[in-house]
Amino acid sequence: MTLYEIETERLVLRQWRDGDWVGLHRTYGDPEVMGWIGAAAGDLPSTAAAVGRMSMHWRLLGYGMFAVEERSTREIVGRVGLMLHPDWPLEGPRVEVGWTLQRSAWGRGYATEGAKASLGFAFDVLHLPQIFSMTRPDNARSRAVMERCGLTQRGELEFHSWKQVHYAIDRKDWPPRDAHLPRMNIRKVGER
Ligand SMILES: CC(C)(COP(=O)(O)OP(=O)(O)OC[C@H]1O[C@@H](n2cnc3c(N)ncnc32)[C@H](O)[C@@H]1OP(=O)(O)O)[C@@H](O)C(=O)NCCC(=O)NCCS
Repeated sequence: MTLYEIETERLVLRQWRDGDWVGLHRTYGDPEVMGWIGAAAGDLPSTAAAVGRMSMHWRLLGYGMFAVEERSTREIVGRVGLMLHPDWPLEGPRVEVGWTLQRSAWGRGYATEGAKASLGFAFDVLHLPQIFSMTRPDNARSRAVMERCGLTQRGELEFHSWKQVHYAIDRKDWPPRDAHLPRMNIRKVGER
């Protein structure tokens, strides 16, 4: 399975490394951040386990959630990328684009920059026909990221007992005409 990393103007979306859980814990250990994704903030070992699951997803499927490293500080500020939901009830590849950043990194456009790079990877490298994204209807920040990336609202449904609004974009609509795409450099970093 080929592993990839993507460099954008301000971020490196990279593979997970041992010890990354310490940086990611600024995100996963924050109850306000985790509340938005329907999870409780855990302890450091539970963040390490989450890093293990994201690494395994990459190795099994050849795509997944990237560690988001800020180029100016070399710090991990969260995660962004692709995730398979095998039990998503609608037709399609069932691959979601998602984002979760530590609070100090909100309001800088990082989620949108990382999401656009992840969509470019999904369509131009993986050739997936469609990508969806879901969130709680009251998550205005996340919905704004979806809209800035050209995803359009497709409906609402209950998933894992949570009401979710879902958006999607088809490969034929990528890249959206009015979405500024960040400069990005997608590179292979190894085989697993
Ligand atoms: C969802 C989440 C990732 C969105 O983060 P965000 O910082 O609001 O989103 P973006 O990266 O697109 O940033 C957009 C903001 O940065 C601002 N910005 C500042 N500099 C910018 C730049 N150079 N380029 C683009 N936008 C910039 C924009 O004006 C916008 O500000 P606004 O929120 O005041 O309108 C973040 O709120 C989060 O982690 N939430 C908790 C987890 C979560 O909900 N995950 C999604 C679950 S489905």
